[in-house]
Amino acid sequence: MNKFSSDSRFAGIKPFHAKVWLASPTTHGDEQKWVDQAFRKNWISTVGDNINRIEKIMADYIGVQYAVALSSGTSALHLAIKLAGEKLYGRARPGMGTLQKHRVFCSDMTFAASVNPVTYEDGEAVFIDTEPGSWNMCPEALEKAFRLYPEVGLIVVVHLYGTPGRMEEIRRIARRHGAMIIEDAAEALGAKYKFNGQWVKCGNLGQYNCLSFNGNKIITGSSGGMFVTNDREDAAKVRKWSTQSREGAPWYQHAEIGYNYRMSNIIAGIIRGQFPYLEEHIAQKKAIYRRYKEGLSDLPVRMNPYDPQRSEPNFWLSCMVIDENAMCETHRQEMDASYVYEPGKSCPTEILEALSSFNAEGRPIWKPMHMQPVYRDRAFIAAAGSDVGADIFRRGLCLPSDNKMTTEQQDGIIDIIHRCFQ
Ligand SMILES: Cc1ncc(COP(=O)(O)O)c(C=O)c1O
Repeated sequence: MNKFSSDSRFAGIKPFHAKVWLASPTTHGDEQKWVDQAFRKNWISTVGDNINRIEKIMADYIGVQYAVALSSGTSALHLAIKLAGEKLYGRARPGMGTLQKHRVFCSDMTFAASVNPVTYEDGEAVFIDTEPGSWNMCPEALEKAFRLYPEVGLIVVVHLYGTPGRMEEIRRIARRHGAMIIEDAAEALGAKYKFNGQWVKCGNLGQYNCLSFNGNKIITGSSGGMFVTNDREDAAKVRKWSTQSREGAPWYQHAEIGYNYRMSNIIAGIIRGQFPYLEEHIAQKKAIYRRYKEGLSDLPVRMNPYDPQRSEPNFWLSCMVIDENAMCETHRQEMDASYVYEPGKSCPTEILEALSSFNAEGRPIWKPMHMQPVYRDRAFIAAAGSDVGADIFRRGLCLPSDNKMTTEQQDGIIDIIHRCFQ
């Protein structure tokens, strides 16, 4: 018996028989075929046909020249950021990062993996606030950041929850200041953005771009990532670094520090089997987003926004944000949260707890990086003194967005959310 099942507002609701996940892998059978083929041919390694195929498939799909399959999105970001540091500031001595205290402008409201590689390379992240129209990097705050730190040469920009950021403005600002862009498209495979009147896929909007095939992504390899670029030499460099930086000598010769970051051919087989279903997954996610939008339209909440003229998200996660005047009193401490029940109002903590008690998984919005204990001493730049990211974090949450969720299950979730506001 939990507090929700004894709460009269939730009378008659039964826990979901099977858990409704936030975003779990959706497989189709083809994955096994390519994994089995790897076994049959004995390419149980970080080389093999599946790797070669998915690099070609992904480069063609995104519209870039080169793709390098890696062990994770984080490793792709690490090598992209290291490479950008080397381009900007020269090669680092072994034991030193390429960024050496140089500042890097980073999206603030994101998963820590998009920012940590700046620290691996001894750089200093400066966090750029979020804009309310797409929940991504705010171009006005970025412009302000360049006024404060005109020397900055690198921007790491995320497309959160599969919604493209305002790349036209961000690229214009970057060009004006001669800065490079790394796109963290981990959550945005298949999302599109209208750039100069043309639809361009996320992953083709920066110099170096990173994808993730982590288990909860729109397609998965169980893990895995990819570095994509139009520069042949840069792709070759990342490929070399990812395979322990072996030189082309007849023995193991190393002129640079290397990493064991290459993707496994087994993982690549899973991704190869998943790829034909990418568009189907996007359509399912879009339908989920639409049903939430419709089903929650009578509540004082809004869905995560996007600009339909300029962007077509992949709708990886559906999120909602509660209107300020419908927020009950809520307190978030460093490690836990509490709230006070008020009729007609609710808060993310109550909704997440209610969903969980009925066997459905939601998630808080990514806690902004400038609020994280590990990064609190870093600079944070907001457009007009307001902190948009902190506000979305306080009032928002990610809703169960699993492709396999049935309409009945989603109706049940919508019902639970309604009851939270009673
Ligand atoms: C925005 C973002 N960046 C980076 C990553 C890291 O990707 P991976 O888990 O494949 O290392 C993730 C997800 O996991 C992510 O959501």
